Amino acid sequence: MSDQTIESLSQEKRLFAPDAQFVKQANVSGMVAYQALCAEAQRDYSGFWARHAREQLTWQNPFTRVLDESNAPFFKWFEDGTLNASYNCLDRHLATQPDKIAIIFEADDGTVTRITYRELHRRVCMMANGLKSLAIKKGDRVLIYMPMSIEVVIAMQACARIGAIHSVVFGGFSAKSVHERIIDAGAVAVLTADEQMRGGKAIPLKTAVDEALALGGCECVKQVVVYRRSGGPVQWSDGRDRWLHDLVSNQPETCAPEWVSAEHPLFILYTSGSTGKPKGVQHSTAGFLLHAALTMRWTFDYKKHDVFWCTADVGWVTGHTYVCYGPLAVGATQIMFEGVPTYPDAGRFWRMIQDHQATVFYTAPTAIRSLIKLGATLPNNYDLSRLRILGTVGEPINPEAWMWYYETVGKSRCPIVDTWWQTETGGHLITPLPGVTPLKPGSCTLPLPGIMADIVDETGQSVEPGKGGILVIKRPWPSMLRTIWGNPERYKNAYFPEEFQGKYYLAGDGAMRDENGYYTIMGRIDDVLNVAGHRLGTMEIESALVANKLVAEAAVVGRPDDLTGEAVVAFVVLKQTRPMGEDAKAMVRQLQEWVSHEIGPIAKPKEIRFGENLPKTRSGKIMRRLLRDIAKGNEITQDVSTLENPAILQQLKDPQG
Ligand code: PRX
Repeated sequence: MSDQTIESLSQEKRLFAPDAQFVKQANVSGMVAYQALCAEAQRDYSGFWARHAREQLTWQNPFTRVLDESNAPFFKWFEDGTLNASYNCLDRHLATQPDKIAIIFEADDGTVTRITYRELHRRVCMMANGLKSLAIKKGDRVLIYMPMSIEVVIAMQACARIGAIHSVVFGGFSAKSVHERIIDAGAVAVLTADEQMRGGKAIPLKTAVDEALALGGCECVKQVVVYRRSGGPVQWSDGRDRWLHDLVSNQPETCAPEWVSAEHPLFILYTSGSTGKPKGVQHSTAGFLLHAALTMRWTFDYKKHDVFWCTADVGWVTGHTYVCYGPLAVGATQIMFEGVPTYPDAGRFWRMIQDHQATVFYTAPTAIRSLIKLGATLPNNYDLSRLRILGTVGEPINPEAWMWYYETVGKSRCPIVDTWWQTETGGHLITPLPGVTPLKPGSCTLPLPGIMADIVDETGQSVEPGKGGILVIKRPWPSMLRTIWGNPERYKNAYFPEEFQGKYYLAGDGAMRDENGYYTIMGRIDDVLNVAGHRLGTMEIESALVANKLVAEAAVVGRPDDLTGEAVVAFVVLKQTRPMGEDAKAMVRQLQEWVSHEIGPIAKPKEIRFGENLPKTRSGKIMRRLLRDIAKGNEITQDVSTLENPAILQQLKDPQG
């Protein structure tokens, strides 16, 4: 985020109080109710979470222990209780609402498919039996690389039903990324599709899985199950590959859930960190599901007639918590969408809200900004009157985009919940509650009850209002990650650093609090970028670049971008002479393609600049601050006398190479 944006956010004085009628009907009704919940958590932290865990979840065996801190920071919640996530999402609704629509799925081409809770349960059971027939069992890891579809929810739920641990990889990631994750997780099977359809185009998925498996070292994978989405061409490896429809066709329609401990891993989801290798964030069953259900009720004020729509892909944590698990855990009807917001035109989201009568709509600021750009008045052409709550996630929203969302989409009637959270937190931690919190554009406002957030300086002392600092969470909470898969040391070092005596969870974000205690997120404090709400590690992109045989050295930084929040800028030293003019342009394209192939198109640098060297201190350290200034186009005002090679700055300032 730019200094200017931080400045404008800190000067933001507008407040939008919730409407009295809304407050009256809200699940958390008014500031007094919110404060009472916060006080309850302060008074009896374990009792508070135990109460919610009993109210929100159906247990096979109730827990007697709540929070175990004896092996901090490897916390355990509700450990001696047993339950099943898929039972909580499906079976427990069968008696009360079997014929309620669980998912309204709209495909890229506009075809709509609806599935009831009864039918979803039946299909999850058949899939679970199918997985069992492949000898997949409790604790096995299953990699899922599928498009947005009813089938991907069935696949995730079926894993949960048999106690297998899913690891979903976003369909936009490359074969290389799939390969890396298969090996790290030790996946026994891969569930994929022939192709995915986005914006009228077919994008192969099975081919990428074939490529990943051909890279070697994937002997752990015994089975590949393929959902036929498009009917496009696929290569086949007999014995290893099978069609999903064949696998499930003769399976029994019921499948007893595998009761697992509350702490049994529900899933692993890889996310970028500050080193080259993505981290497998491991979540538990009960704590995760509790927070998913609770925030559906608190943040989204879930009511049984709601039609909930979270636009996130299941490949991200938002799609785990607020597509696959949260809405089903509370028995909601939700919309799922295969395509992109701009196809066939930029009215797609608004048309879908109208046609499916969405009441809660949750999306990313980048999507909002791009839709403003492509058609700021388009929402006026649709009937959006059923909407009652709007939400944002994944990145800071600038007050201008917030105001547009509020006025043009929500017609100044709908509270906006700007939800701050992370892959690691499992669900919302800091967010307005729609029937409680006066809204301030650009601020994620206040922590949820039971979330002990703070902003501290390097010594761990709380900072005064109006000052920036490091965002921390001071007590463990049920939906936090439990570890990094296969790397407990990394978990400890990355999230519970020594500076704070290993006591505070370090979110990796800078933040500021105003005089009302409202939080504003100021962006990452580590080497992680946030591009279009997606996390990218600068080191990960650097490793990809230097893996190219033409590249000698690379440094990657972010710069502010009006649309995507941040953009990736790479500074590259080639093994050959520094290219100029057309040669430089061709080299830029070649390296962009390379990064797409290595990681995925989302990591592609927007800009690549070439130098004969990188600005380094005499001890050889790359001066990233200077690179950030160059990327932003700022004048370099700081002292460069410690630089080994000051002349290099001039070369790097010239974007043509
Ligand atoms: O920097 C914060 C930003 O996204 C990061 C988490 O990214 P990820 O794990 O991919 O999860 C995204 C979806 C939950 C955070 O460290 N971030 C997330 N939500 C917000 C945000 N920044 C500002 N405002 C938000 N509401």
